[in-house]
Amino acid sequence: TRRVIVDTDTAGDDTQAILLGALSGAVELELLTIVAGNVEFDYQVENAKYTLELAGVADEVPVYEGARRPLVKEFEHVDHVHGAGGLGGELFPDTGIESAEGYGPDAIVEAVRESPGELTLVCIGPLTNIALALRREPRLGELVEEVVVMGGAVNTLGNDTPSAEFNFWVDPDAAKVVMRELDVTLLDWGLTMRQATLESDELEPIEEAETPYADFFDEITAHLREFSEERFGSDATTQPDSLAMATVIEPDLVEEAPRYHVDVDEREGLTRGYSMVDELGITDGEARTRVVESIDEARFKTIFTDMLLHGDP
Ligand code: BDR
Ligand code: CA
Repeated sequence: TRRVIVDTDTAGDDTQAILLGALSGAVELELLTIVAGNVEFDYQVENAKYTLELAGVADEVPVYEGARRPLVKEFEHVDHVHGAGGLGGELFPDTGIESAEGYGPDAIVEAVRESPGELTLVCIGPLTNIALALRREPRLGELVEEVVVMGGAVNTLGNDTPSAEFNFWVDPDAAKVVMRELDVTLLDWGLTMRQATLESDELEPIEEAETPYADFFDEITAHLREFSEERFGSDATTQPDSLAMATVIEPDLVEEAPRYHVDVDEREGLTRGYSMVDELGITDGEARTRVVESIDEARFKTIFTDMLLHGDP
């Protein structure tokens, strides 16, 4: 089993990624850290705890609160995408579970120092906590097994602005630090659109099922599906964060992942958060990022639906 730290702005699809990690026998969730992103911070903390509780692991997986705002930029969250609170607009969990004591980035540093080479970071929100951890522990990259990041829009349109994917847009300064200083496996928005999108017909079995996970999925995606219909002309649901977790559960999912030099535009303006991927090797930047270009889509969808239907990804 792989030991995993999940850094998350828990709303919508983050919950599904956490469920995958919690329910898969291939992964052991070590701890969660929460980062400013999708919705108001305190909702995200509760959403994460609720999700762990649903999976029956709330006692085993501590939740640490991390950065409540990006490194430099002003903070804006996106209630309009996931619904108020981040779980579809009607569910506002109040678990009564205490957060773990300590600051998220510190918890990451302490955990990787305790188990050098053994932990994988699955980063499914803006990269603020990871950049802060890196500043506290410059050897972070040497101390982890792998850093998996959902973010960026590789030579394609972004979802937050035409130039940028949401996680990179929210904290482009942090994304820049992380892409420059760590060897990352990157799963971007374009790959999500191509291969980690469940169409309406694929969602039917989930809608019909009455398992707790399938019901939870229906509840949290209702609002997002309406939003997607408006913005993208389709009510299919995208699963970027679950895709990141699935590649940790089953590394063979990844079919093509060449290494490229990746940098991020941190400047305010039209290209804030733009992920520059040097596919042609034009710059002299180091090609250190594993950019996942294709995955076994059918297998990913099976893992995902097995989780929702049988609680067993
Ligand atoms: C990313 O933004 C968030 O809304 C999703 O959870 C995912 O991490 C996709 O751009
Ligand atoms: Ca996320």
